[in-house]
Amino acid sequence: MSERVIPLVDQRPSGRAMPSALPAAPSLSSSRPPAMPLDALKRPLRDLRISVTDRCNFRCSYCMPKSVFDKDYQYLPQSALLSFEEISRTAKLFASLGVTKLRLTGGEPLLRKHIEVLIAMLAELRTPSGAPLDITLTTNGSLLAKKAAALKAAGLQRVTVSLDGLDDTVFRQMNDVDFPVRDVLAGIEAAQAVGLGPIKVNMVVKRGTNEHEIVPMARFFKGTGVVLRFIEYMDVGATNGWRMDEVLPSADVIARLQAHWPMVALDAAAPGETAQRWGYAKAGGGHDASAGEIGVISSVTQAFCGDCNRARLSTEGQIYLCLFATHGHDLRALLRAGASDEDIAGSISALWSGRTDRYSQLRAMQPPEASEPGARRVEMSYIGG
Ligand code: GTP
Ligand code: 5AD
Ligand code: SF4
Ligand code: SF4
Repeated sequence: MSERVIPLVDQRPSGRAMPSALPAAPSLSSSRPPAMPLDALKRPLRDLRISVTDRCNFRCSYCMPKSVFDKDYQYLPQSALLSFEEISRTAKLFASLGVTKLRLTGGEPLLRKHIEVLIAMLAELRTPSGAPLDITLTTNGSLLAKKAAALKAAGLQRVTVSLDGLDDTVFRQMNDVDFPVRDVLAGIEAAQAVGLGPIKVNMVVKRGTNEHEIVPMARFFKGTGVVLRFIEYMDVGATNGWRMDEVLPSADVIARLQAHWPMVALDAAAPGETAQRWGYAKAGGGHDASAGEIGVISSVTQAFCGDCNRARLSTEGQIYLCLFATHGHDLRALLRAGASDEDIAGSISALWSGRTDRYSQLRAMQPPEASEPGARRVEMSYIGG
């Protein structure tokens, strides 16, 4: 009988209890927690990223390396997952605290059964001022051609598709399940055709692996309305064997693009944005809007923690305050203990108010091995991008 393989890395560090609601500040008018909390570094809460499954049909080496995520890997059981009702209740409470944008992630979110039912529930939510939330989804694109129309009909506004190159050999190696480029491109086309735009394409750049795909990818998407974003390979999680020498700084990406097309820096579209925007320039200078724009996401060389307004909800209902956190906070326990909306919102508010996370900024000041000895950071496939 073959021996059971025990994963070296525990994907699910045990969560901490949620804080109880902050004692109400003495006030004549109200004893309720602040409606729109700021964290300890004065950052508001605007963006909730919801992981709906810890499974994926790809095995990107920088995210779910096959050596760890093999056939013996134990994913979460169905009973551990937040139900759609629990997710939409949580999203509603986050919206009451200032969240205006929801991003569904995974793993691969399109693997979650009936995801369009959840999207339809989320599309009903409103901010305190009555506006619908911005609802988007990050996908590897493998199931997008099949699902684009249903996602749009359910109320999804846009999608972000991960694609690490156009060279089929390189892409098949990077996803490590031999998945072809053409099927992802078909997904992007289908999403465009049903109006799930503006579509963003995320390319994780690894020096020595797909850096030669930077210019072909830019050429391919230039003028199509798709916004291509180059992401610095990050030291997220504990399983990908990250090395600084495999990071290609965004400044190099821009230099390589500049060698082909003059580029102009564009202003951020929203506060706290992950990407720095660059536009293709017109002959006489200025941005040529018809040629479009690209983005660079430089979490290694230019951390953007300063105005990070993102909270993350894991598949099993743990709240994470940072992509690089070592533990979450057990919201599911509160949900399943029958806590009231007011208590849960107060508890989330208290949690956010105490937040000091700024991992990438601190990381830039010291090498990863020097920070938090023995700490096991949560995996991206569990918490979502
Ligand atoms: P939109 O621009 O609204 O579409 O959202 P976004 O910029 O947040 O995009 P997306 O979710 O596609 O994030 C892009 C990538 O940026 C992710 O895949 C991560 O690699 C990285 N990223 C996103 N959020 C964070 C963050 O809070 N910290 C760090 N270090 N990286 C992040
Ligand atoms: N570094 C940078 N980006 C990553 N992603 C996953 N792992 C990493 C990493 N180590 C990105 C994927 C996808 C999103 C979900 O996160 O490419 O766009
Ligand atoms: Fe799956 Fe996305 Fe991770 Fe690749 S990066 S293994 S597609 S979740
Ligand atoms: Fe936000 Fe943490 Fe990312 Fe910094 S490293 S931008 S605090 S999620």
